[in-house]
Amino acid sequence: MNIHLTKSQIGLDGVPAAETVLSHVDGERGELIIAGEHVGTLASQSSFEGVTARLWNGASKTSLSEANVRASLGAARERAFVRLPELLPPTRGMGIVDGFRAAVAGLRAENGLEHEATIVGAFPVIAGALVRRAKGLEPVAPDPNASHAADTLRMLRGASPEPREVAALDAYFVTVCDHGMNASTFATRVVASTQADLFAAITAGYCALTGPLHGGAPEPVLEMLDAIGSSERVKPWVDAALARGERLMGFGHRVYRVRDPRADVLKAAIERLSADGADLPFAGEVEAYIRSALRKKNPDRPLETNVEFFTAILLDALAIPRQAFTPIFAAARAAGWTAHAREQQRTGRLIRPSSSYVGEMPKASGE
Ligand code: ACO
Repeated sequence: MNIHLTKSQIGLDGVPAAETVLSHVDGERGELIIAGEHVGTLASQSSFEGVTARLWNGASKTSLSEANVRASLGAARERAFVRLPELLPPTRGMGIVDGFRAAVAGLRAENGLEHEATIVGAFPVIAGALVRRAKGLEPVAPDPNASHAADTLRMLRGASPEPREVAALDAYFVTVCDHGMNASTFATRVVASTQADLFAAITAGYCALTGPLHGGAPEPVLEMLDAIGSSERVKPWVDAALARGERLMGFGHRVYRVRDPRADVLKAAIERLSADGADLPFAGEVEAYIRSALRKKNPDRPLETNVEFFTAILLDALAIPRQAFTPIFAAARAAGWTAHAREQQRTGRLIRPSSSYVGEMPKASGE
């Protein structure tokens, strides 16, 4: 009784909580393997639909092709568009991240149709409608023949994107579609372990994603870059933030002790997207100074650039409003969540850890 846990125990650091065929994160070597392939290889050779097929096949022992997934996501986007009036929260004051949470919670099973596709297909439809509603615009109907990435941009903008923009968003979707036992995937698996359905499980996953220590980081990354503003302000701004004890968004990771491999995959995607390099030179200056400042601050704890730093720059270069970054992240990660939920349900095992009670004990009788 009254055994206090260490910081690592409280954070379940390094505790394996599932056997999975879906993805593997090697924090020492800086490697991410998704469904048997390195993330960099997937991002250059596979579409989001292709990697989603691999994840769903791995979890459910199916043999879906990329074309199967593309067709089922297209059909699911159309169904979601029809349901938009009942899914979107009536109040516009909720904001995009919270409005998305309310709409996702309204998703439900559609008889005889794949739940995985219903969920993943609905996400960009909801995100697009919320972004447009915030600007006073009507939602744009999906094109079921377009790819997930192309239609996401179309529904956000109301115009067809350029092929290089589609390629950049597709590379992003592939890069972030799954990532071991991250917080949102764990939340998803905990709910799925109760044998609740996929809709309940991914709602929990999305809620976990929204926090700034996880998928809510990219919007603050842009705010940080805006606040720094110019080269001469990098050092004073960063030093002052660290002196105040603030965490710098887009840096550090629970598992990686070296650079997050996804950072370089996204950096390369940004370079391909922007002929002139977009904001990369300034972002590069900020990144370099923050890395050196963090090395000085925590010499024994490597704190390197994580995926969210370049996510912010990539999504901004695609003119996606920063308030929609977390829902757009979810539009990719939902592929992983749905696969993990299925994999967890198949184990039939409830996730139910214990806690260490450090509270008062009842007084012994007679005292
Ligand atoms: N900026 C400044 N200091 C940091 C940062 C950071 N980004 N990250 C960790 N530290 C410091 C901590 O304050 C701590 O310092 P202390 O020992 O002096 O108290 C030390 O480094 C060790 O930190 P941990 O607590 O071991 O780090 P943890 O494993 O909890 O951190 C996390 C992981 C939450 C991602 C953290 O690095 C962080 O807050 N980063 C900023 C938010 C962010 O970028 N989130 C996105 C992560 S990627 C994703 O989820 C998709």
